[in-house]
Amino acid sequence: MTISSLPLVHADDEWSPLRAVVVGRAGRACFPSAPAKMIKATMPSEHVSRFQPGNPFHAKLIAKAEAELDYFAAILCAEGITVYRPEPDIDWVALNGYTGAMPRDGLMSVGNMLIEACFAWPCRAKEIEIGFSSILDDLSKDQRVQIVRRPESAFANTLLDDNVADNTTTATTWAINNSRPAFDTADFMRFGCTIIGQYSHVTNQAGVDYIRKYLPAGYSIEMLDVDDPHAMHIDATILPLRDGLLVYNPTKVTETELRRHAVLASWKLHAYPYTPKAPSEPPLYMTSPWLCLNALVLDGKRVVVEASDHQTIQWYESLGMQCIPCPFKHVNSIGGSFHCATVDLVRESSA
Ligand code: ARG
Repeated sequence: MTISSLPLVHADDEWSPLRAVVVGRAGRACFPSAPAKMIKATMPSEHVSRFQPGNPFHAKLIAKAEAELDYFAAILCAEGITVYRPEPDIDWVALNGYTGAMPRDGLMSVGNMLIEACFAWPCRAKEIEIGFSSILDDLSKDQRVQIVRRPESAFANTLLDDNVADNTTTATTWAINNSRPAFDTADFMRFGCTIIGQYSHVTNQAGVDYIRKYLPAGYSIEMLDVDDPHAMHIDATILPLRDGLLVYNPTKVTETELRRHAVLASWKLHAYPYTPKAPSEPPLYMTSPWLCLNALVLDGKRVVVEASDHQTIQWYESLGMQCIPCPFKHVNSIGGSFHCATVDLVRESSA
């Protein structure tokens, strides 16, 4: 198929040549508020108290994050990639929401299908509706595109068991129960017909079953056994750099576990060889420094990486990648990096 004849959504891996992508916008972002149990299970302990209703990120931080997102979008445009942006200036504080900067958490392309997350956190329930409806409207003009919107039934606030104490979270006890489908799409990575996912404090069995029900014919989900008591989003744990080469966080997943998945059995698997360090400022309010693995691969040869992270740039280059540096520390501060801030819509050589 030529590029112009490709559907507006046509992507099922993380490395084929990127032709169309969503890049988020911070808007008037605030700390997402959620029941204490959900926050404590996932957020850095030193910042837990900030996650209160109506607590905005500092205006200067947001302004810098927006500038970084715009610059990142400009880099992608200059590469000839079609870039979709959500509504500007959304007041997430007034909406008691979070931000529009992390669309990976809420949307996932699989073939010609776009699946909306059934977010576990109530404050994120309307994030895609509010920030991304006009993009979804544009994409749905192409009859070949199928969009699976979050159903009303997935809004029920039943995910917390009242009788379980706040501090019982362990690697085998998730903050949420299985009473309704819950998943963030960032708990999944696409490897062609195989999607690799993780259970987490925001993704439960009913959520995985829900995705399985909607997946286009021929696709399947396999769950990765990840050792992460704070699990929320798989995209700082594994990253395929190209077909046949994956980098991973060895503190969370083993090579043996990765190889157990047939799609990875013959891949080159490289553990990140350093302990990543958080920058001195701005703080990583919502994540660990493992965002170094949260890069965006453009085509299996080039990868967008945080400009100041020379250690990661050198390492990716030693693995045969060409790095495109982009400043992104302020976006990192509000919750994620290049992978989180994007949704790939078209990757050219996908099946
Ligand atoms: N929970 C991960 C960590 O702290 C960060 C994942 C960010 N990903 C995202 N899609 N927002 O290392």
